[in-house]
Amino acid sequence: MLSPITLAFTSSFLLSFTSGVRILPNTNGALSLLDSYDYIIVGAGIGGLVVANRLSENASVSVLVIESGDIDDRAEDISIPGNVGLEDPRRYEVKLEMTPQEFLDGETRVFTQGNVVGGSTIVNGLVWTRGSVADFDAWEHLGNPGWGWMGLLPYFRKPAIDEHGLHGPVEVGYPKYFYNQSHNFLSGIQKLGIPANEDPNNGNATGACIVPSSMTAKNQSRSDARTAYLDPVLERPNLHLITGHAVARILYGKGGKNSSSSTYIPSFATNQTIDTIIATCKKEVILAAGSIFSPVLLQISGIGPAKLLKSLGVDVAIDLPGVGSNLQDHPTLEPVYDSWDIVGSTRDAVREEYLANRTGPWTAPMVNAIALPALSWITERVQEVLDDAANAKSTLPSSYDATLREGYAAQKTELLSLLARTDTPAYEVMSTSWGQLAISAMQPFSRGTVLANSSSIFENSQPIIDPRFCSHPIDCELLLIGLEFNNRLIQTPPMAALKPTPPPGFGIEEAQNRTALDETMRRKITTGFHLSGTTSMLPLAYGGVVDPSLRVYGTRNLRIVDAGVIPLIPGAHIQAAIYAIGEKAADIIKNENSGTLPSMNPRPGEPQDSQQASPENSSKP
Ligand SMILES: Cc1cc2nc3c(=O)[nH]c(=O)nc-3n(C[C@H](O)[C@H](O)[C@H](O)COP(=O)(O)OP(=O)(O)OC[C@H]3O[C@@H](n4cnc5c(N)ncnc54)[C@H](O)[C@@H]3O)c2cc1C
Ligand SMILES: *[C@@H]1O[C@H](CO)[C@@H](O)[C@H](O)[C@H]1NC(C)=O
Ligand SMILES: *[C@@H]1O[C@H](CO)[C@@H](O)[C@H](O)[C@H]1NC(C)=O
Ligand SMILES: *[C@@H]1O[C@H](CO)[C@@H](O)[C@H](O)[C@H]1NC(C)=O
Ligand SMILES: *[C@@H]1O[C@H](CO)[C@@H](O)[C@H](O)[C@H]1NC(C)=O
Ligand SMILES: *[C@@H]1O[C@H](CO)[C@@H](O)[C@H](O)[C@H]1NC(C)=O
Ligand SMILES: *[C@@H]1O[C@H](CO)[C@@H](O)[C@H](O)[C@H]1NC(C)=O
Ligand SMILES: *[C@@H]1O[C@H](CO)[C@@H](O)[C@H](O)[C@H]1NC(C)=O
Ligand SMILES: *[C@@H]1O[C@H](CO)[C@@H](O)[C@H](O)[C@H]1NC(C)=O
Ligand SMILES: *[C@@H]1O[C@H](CO)[C@@H](O)[C@H](O)[C@H]1NC(C)=O
Ligand SMILES: *[C@@H]1O[C@H](CO)[C@@H](O)[C@H](O)[C@H]1NC(C)=O
Repeated sequence: MLSPITLAFTSSFLLSFTSGVRILPNTNGALSLLDSYDYIIVGAGIGGLVVANRLSENASVSVLVIESGDIDDRAEDISIPGNVGLEDPRRYEVKLEMTPQEFLDGETRVFTQGNVVGGSTIVNGLVWTRGSVADFDAWEHLGNPGWGWMGLLPYFRKPAIDEHGLHGPVEVGYPKYFYNQSHNFLSGIQKLGIPANEDPNNGNATGACIVPSSMTAKNQSRSDARTAYLDPVLERPNLHLITGHAVARILYGKGGKNSSSSTYIPSFATNQTIDTIIATCKKEVILAAGSIFSPVLLQISGIGPAKLLKSLGVDVAIDLPGVGSNLQDHPTLEPVYDSWDIVGSTRDAVREEYLANRTGPWTAPMVNAIALPALSWITERVQEVLDDAANAKSTLPSSYDATLREGYAAQKTELLSLLARTDTPAYEVMSTSWGQLAISAMQPFSRGTVLANSSSIFENSQPIIDPRFCSHPIDCELLLIGLEFNNRLIQTPPMAALKPTPPPGFGIEEAQNRTALDETMRRKITTGFHLSGTTSMLPLAYGGVVDPSLRVYGTRNLRIVDAGVIPLIPGAHIQAAIYAIGEKAADIIKNENSGTLPSMNPRPGEPQDSQQASPENSSKP
């Protein structure tokens, strides 16, 4: 039933292999791919590398990771916290365009994410926040036993050496330098009644703080999924990594149309001109390509909403309506109030100090201080806002079926309760190193979609990404309250001392006209870089894609471990939660595979007849 299929590659592959591709561990160019692997992992971001590391702890288990990007060069713009965001490490990013945002100004937005070993942790802003007890208890309420705060806590602890003295591969700490204006910010915030929070990661995230970062204390440099989970285990002979190859499709193995006995096998290639290479798995395929490309890979492999798949000309293997839906993000505004001199020293001197002593401004990431206010701390109209949130006409995408609508109704109940609490934030304000007071709505009610635009990842390869920012009006209402709060903040004596100047349209006088402020604001709202939910861990009746063991409904050995499985976005930056998801997933997979193969899980509706190519037969992606 699971007999391995010979690795099929052609001479054109061998050519590209010798020129561009790296296979690790380095075998001096000798081809070291095995005929088959116990586990094949698609994508070397957070989810992929955490699971790869943990599964390969057992030397008799073979693991292959396939990553579309390269390995980064550890240049200064990657490793030095002070360079984050200033010198965009674009060479390791894919730039994706979001569709015109009809509830904002009708314009598109750009979204970038890591395309490199380490995924988005190579390019992210280092902010390390877990979120609150209630954020994760909401996951459990939504039908995911074991995924509440108490169920996740051991896994929150596992990845990070943190301020609690606990051990793990990712280091979390504080820089050796604080921008002067961080102190102005924190004093100003406290003048407005927002309390300080000494430990935002203890389960009550609200308050204001100097923010913990994913950085090494000793070296004062970026700590990411690659340095934490891959570099220390590069020598493991049972862990192979192939870079520069995108997985093009997940194929059904022996067992064909009968999905209860089929194996999922990734085929991968650098691009459409090169014949597909097929890797065979003996146990499981784990999709960890992130919240955009995991759902797209499922869709073009025949797992997704039947209507979409038919329009793409893809045979429907499993009609799973949730694939690509329930997209959530923290909508964000980035007004800059001044370009005050944060450093008071020349760039060369700052660099010299960092390189010589690992001290000074370059140890500090762009975000130094944040505040996460509860709703009742920023507005007197709490009940009015909650009523608006509850009663606004729901504008879900027309493509959402009854199960997705049911799932959204359940999420909305959770969101209303989260918004009313004092230990979960309504919004965030981040003070950055260049005078930004960036604000994000932390309990977003809007939902969007990620849809493949063709049956091949190489053709029209940009998926259609529509976050539908402010399709639920409460998200914009909260951002407006946030802008008004910013205007109060800059008038507090500690902040006024910096002589901040609001950007055009956001001035204190101009903000008196709420209609005009709202219009200006809608032109500026953009992504918070926290896209999640597109392959949600939710019951089938709620439009879920994976069950609480992260297995795709209707399959036996296909799991997803990335930001897409988040059912409801926490009121926090999400990397800490994704590392925890990866750790918990690895334990689940180890436990389930200690004996027999995992059993089949429920399948939505009747199985559809599918015409998947058999691996021996398919040669083109
Ligand atoms: C600019 C930016 C700033 C951010 N700042 C912060 C922050 O300060 N704090 C925070 O907590 N979070 C932050 N985030 C979010 C956080 O880094 C991401 O949410 C997180 O890395 C997502 O993890 P993941 O495992 O889902 O996917 P990723 O880490 O993105 O990894 C997915 C991997 O899959 C690969 N892949 C995709 N398609 C294929 C394919 N077909 N075949 C093979 N490989 C494929 C990609 O190249 C990538 O390496 C930021 C994100 C961005 C983009
Ligand atoms: C390691 O993996 C092998 C093969 O799957 C299994 O038999 C063994 O029990 C595992 N060892 C541990 C310590 O889990
Ligand atoms: C940390 O510093 C040590 C020397 O003190 C050096 O060998 C190592 O490469 C550094 N690591 C990083 C990530 O900069
Ligand atoms: C599908 O697989 C199951 C379990 O292996 C088997 O019992 C069943 O007969 C198969 N059905 C078909 C149509 O092959
Ligand atoms: C595909 O790969 C070939 C060989 O590496 C290269 O010449 C060509 O430009 C690539 N095409 C695309 C669309 O990336
Ligand atoms: C920061 O504040 C200290 C103490 O108030 C002051 O001495 C220093 O010059 C300030 N630095 C900058 C860059 O403004
Ligand atoms: C590094 O630290 C030492 C000791 O404090 C100091 O004398 C030296 O000037 C520092 N070097 C730089 C480049 O700042
Ligand atoms: C959460 O912390 C804030 C700030 O310390 C405090 O005001 C609030 O009462 C706390 N909420 C709960 C429910 O503990
Ligand atoms: C989707 O594909 C069509 C061609 O089929 C193309 O015209 C369009 O630009 C693509 N959309 C995106 C968002 O890439
Ligand atoms: C407020 O702004 C709106 C939109 O720009 C404008 O139409 C309206 O006249 C303004 N109202 C006042 C009182 O200035
Ligand atoms: C390819 O598929 C065809 C039709 O499904 C089948 O007859 C043929 O045996 C397959 N070839 C191989 C090499 O498996």
